Amino acid sequence: MGLPYFKIVGGNRLKGSVRVSGAKNAALPIMAASLLCEGEVVLHDLPQVADVKSLAELLTKLGLQVERRPDGALSLTVRDEMNCKAEYDIVRKMRASICVLGPLLAKRGRAEVSMPGGCAIGDRPVDLHIRAMKKLGADVELVSGDLVARAKRLRGAEMFLGGAFGSTVLGTANAMMAAVFAEGVTVIEMAACEPEVVDLANFLNACGASITGQGTPRIVIEGVRELKGCEYRIIPDRIEAGTFMVAAAITNSELKLDNCRLDHLMAFIDRLAAIGVQVERAENGAVVSSARRLEPAEVTTQPFPGFPTDLQAQTMALLCLADGNSIITEKIFPDRFLHVAELNRMGARLRKEGPTVIVEGVKRLIGAPVMASDLRASAALVLAGLAARGLTVVNRVYHLDRGYERLEEKLRSLGADIERCEGGEEE
Ligand code: EPZ
Repeated sequence: MGLPYFKIVGGNRLKGSVRVSGAKNAALPIMAASLLCEGEVVLHDLPQVADVKSLAELLTKLGLQVERRPDGALSLTVRDEMNCKAEYDIVRKMRASICVLGPLLAKRGRAEVSMPGGCAIGDRPVDLHIRAMKKLGADVELVSGDLVARAKRLRGAEMFLGGAFGSTVLGTANAMMAAVFAEGVTVIEMAACEPEVVDLANFLNACGASITGQGTPRIVIEGVRELKGCEYRIIPDRIEAGTFMVAAAITNSELKLDNCRLDHLMAFIDRLAAIGVQVERAENGAVVSSARRLEPAEVTTQPFPGFPTDLQAQTMALLCLADGNSIITEKIFPDRFLHVAELNRMGARLRKEGPTVIVEGVKRLIGAPVMASDLRASAALVLAGLAARGLTVVNRVYHLDRGYERLEEKLRSLGADIERCEGGEEE
């Protein structure tokens, strides 16, 4: 039958407004946190993307009743607490499955999660997750490729969760979720400050947890006895918003984004301003417009509030068309550059030197068949296709479907010439 692919004919100006979906990376840990709750959890604004579906499948296997309501919200209720194992078939597909580790251990006293393997964006160790569970008093061992964690009752503890590349988003999420029922107080130093971590803490508090300091590097959790399900709305996806901002800039267009939080995108907007792209606040969103001439820029990815690694690839696509040389340095995932060779196939001039890419601006990109690799690299290729002369075919867009909700439909509604086709090449 073949795989889905996109056909894009570049060159169209975009126009109009688009609604940003709920954040995938907030949705996943919050869905996992429903393992901790008594009664029904109802989540609004969950994006309809493949990763949310995969996690819903995993949670169903872990004894939750998971249902889409007619209004689009997802309802999750724990029905059976026997199974504590996240099998390799799902963890292999989606690394974020690791975020069931903390809640299973806290609620069921045992968690078995297959060790996530390699990943297209490079090494993805889980040592900091393990450190957090051990600090709280769990026994953790590796048995035939599975992480097995056990504890009768976790105890609050102080922990430092920084690694060679700074803080960890899902590691902080796991530590917070594991600590909600721990006896006493837990302090996480060098906690991740990402908005998705804040959203998880706010959700847990809405269920009855006692967490303070979210959004700062020091999170304090006072153990409570129980959490009750609640109704909660997920924050807007800042990475999807940033992707549409680049779509406006790369096609020299003006777009209105609805459901978009500029306070979550300060570092990115700062770099866009340096490039010559204006982002102005509008009611519940933003208006993005771009100068005809794009300036080159230096971009370095960092943990929040720094420039997000999840917008590095898209920004590289934009800087390919700047008038001069740019430098992009990746400080979170130093190997996250699979898009470089593909963009070069479209006429970009990119040279990788270790964790840095030197971008020599070109006058135009030229459509070509290219291959999507990871989620954000795929988005970068779509963006390049919107600006390129002629036809771009982006193969393997199932990577893109993991984290973008109907991207091609949204772009088409803005005037892009993009079409989803079936029957693309197999692996
Ligand atoms: C989250 O992954 C996101 N995923 C990623 O988004 C995102 O790129 C990443 O954070 C960084 O912002 C989800 O939220 C589901 P990390 P996570 O632990 O939490 C190192 C996307 O495209 N590290 O914050 O797994 C790690 O190697 C995805 O939507 C350790 O050394 O990332 C990296 O260098 C892809 N030991 C750095 O920390 C650990 O135990 C940050 O990774 C854990 C991480």
